[in-house]
Amino acid sequence: MRKLTVVLTSMLIVFSLVIVASAEDKMPEANAQALWNYITKVSPYKTWSFWPDHKGMQKGRAPHGPWHKVYVNDKALNSSKAPVHYGAIEVKENYDNSKKLKVITVMYKVKGYNPAAGDWFWVKYRLNGKADKFGKPKGCIRCHGVRADNDYISVHEFK
Ligand code: HEC
Repeated sequence: MRKLTVVLTSMLIVFSLVIVASAEDKMPEANAQALWNYITKVSPYKTWSFWPDHKGMQKGRAPHGPWHKVYVNDKALNSSKAPVHYGAIEVKENYDNSKKLKVITVMYKVKGYNPAAGDWFWVKYRLNGKADKFGKPKGCIRCHGVRADNDYISVHEFK
């Protein structure tokens, strides 16, 4: 009887772990509000990593502003070559000259979303989460497109 209880309890623990793990893996739709909720509440981006070749505060170029930090989730980080795995997200914090956070720009790789341009869902957020631009903005795609071989990513080189 003791043994059975132990077995049942262990099974219960395993099942709950599986449920928790699959809930964490549930990625948001290609939708600006759902994505904001995901990167600020479900899996806060500040707990993510940096690319090994682009850590912490870095100098940036127009149009993104003079300073930035780029956070990447595990799906991006574990991509050893371009294109990155689906579900990859990059969150870029854009700072002004006095290193004050101004704007947040995001790239989210969604299967089938935009095959013509790397399946990226693009968003430019204000700090309160309001999306000023989102979806397939021509500007984002055109400029990042010069890096299409590197999966539209600028701050990290795939070998
Ligand atoms: C005129 C060129 C240009 C445009 C337009 C542009 N970007 Fe970028 N983007 C860059 C450059 C250059 C970088 C490298 C970091 C830096 O210099 O700030 C970058 C970096 C990024 C990154 C960090 C990930 C990476 O590519 O390495 C994100 C996320 C991003 N941009 C999102 C956007 C979004 C969203 C838009 C449209 C709203 C956009 N960008 C428009 C040039 C551009």
